[in-house]
Amino acid sequence: MKTELSRTLGIEHAIFGFTPFPAVAAALTRAGGFGVLGAVRYTAPDDLARDLDWMQEHTDGLPYGLDVVMPAKKVEGVSEADVEAMIPEEHRAFVRATLAKHGVPELAEGEASGWRITGWMEQVARGQLDVAFDYPIKLLANALGSPPPDVVARAHDHGVLVAALAGSARHARHHAEAGIDVVVAQGYEAGGHTGEIASMVLTPEVVEAVSPLPVLAAGGIGSGEQIAAGLALGAQGVWLGSIWLTTTEADLHSRALTAKLLAAGSGDTVRSRALTGKPARQLRTEWTDAWDDPAGPGPLPMPLQGLLVAEAVSRIQKYEVDPLLGTPVGQIVGRMNSERSVQQVVDELTRGFEKAVDRINRIAGRSEA
Ligand SMILES: Cc1cc2nc3c(=O)[nH]c(=O)nc-3n(C[C@H](O)[C@H](O)[C@H](O)COP(=O)(O)O)c2cc1C
Repeated sequence: MKTELSRTLGIEHAIFGFTPFPAVAAALTRAGGFGVLGAVRYTAPDDLARDLDWMQEHTDGLPYGLDVVMPAKKVEGVSEADVEAMIPEEHRAFVRATLAKHGVPELAEGEASGWRITGWMEQVARGQLDVAFDYPIKLLANALGSPPPDVVARAHDHGVLVAALAGSARHARHHAEAGIDVVVAQGYEAGGHTGEIASMVLTPEVVEAVSPLPVLAAGGIGSGEQIAAGLALGAQGVWLGSIWLTTTEADLHSRALTAKLLAAGSGDTVRSRALTGKPARQLRTEWTDAWDDPAGPGPLPMPLQGLLVAEAVSRIQKYEVDPLLGTPVGQIVGRMNSERSVQQVVDELTRGFEKAVDRINRIAGRSEA
């Protein structure tokens, strides 16, 4: 499975994988794909440096990337405390009431919330970049809009390709104008922040909009047949996020959550602002239902919602409070029915891809039945 982009990066399979877990990213790179480590959860630069050191030691000199979440809109000179102060008491009370309704215990005295995501504040993301450019990353991806021009220039100075996620052809064109090298066309089915256009429609629109820039198809891909479909639509590779969550290398810290993912069907996700303030696909839970209920106060905009719910999400995860327990995940969760290693997933993906190509060749009359 070779494309121009996979040749440029020197990878065996044009399979890119976003993951918050270094062990998954490294395993994908070792399996011949391209692991991309999500940086958004690293508030402390030292923690990111520690995990990038680990990645270096476990990727056999093969290429990998980093993903940051820099919002397109810049907020100058605003600290985390300033942002915290903007959260209305009504919303804090709603969090308390929702947790109390389900009997969610408090964290221990002094216990830090492990889920405190501030990486989507520009100053935090910039701290991550200061660390990242000390490592031989080959690709820097940005989730929310094009990264600022100085970040693109800095990446290019380091010989790093810049990728950006796009949920529409308009976004993709904007990325191309901003000097981005690779556009990830992320369809509605995808886990995490997503737009309203399904991959089947979005991928060819984005390919056409940014040609000749390479496009990666993302959203709803969990089989080799779906990879073949993405490549047939003009993509130069695929970008998968959800599928890795139930691999043996993933570290979800919760058996109950893994069990929920393995049991979930493709209809068990919802695109909700409950977690971050921007629409993100995730498991539908009583937590998302509470935030999506018109009778409640509704979610705050990013980054307020993320700060507001950080501790609550940690408590729900720590105590595995089943009705509220969730995670970003896409509709492909319906196919994630057993725990496998990253290598097994890649083997299955490449086998399925070959099967699909053989089948299409037969249909096209290019090979014997
Ligand atoms: C748990 C989870 C967290 C995610 N967080 C991010 C993120 O921080 N940055 C990002 O660019 N994309 C993020 N995404 C989206 C993925 O990069 C990817 O585009 C998406 O998962 C592809 O669709 P799929 O879930 O159908 O494979 C996340 C996805 C999941 C499942």
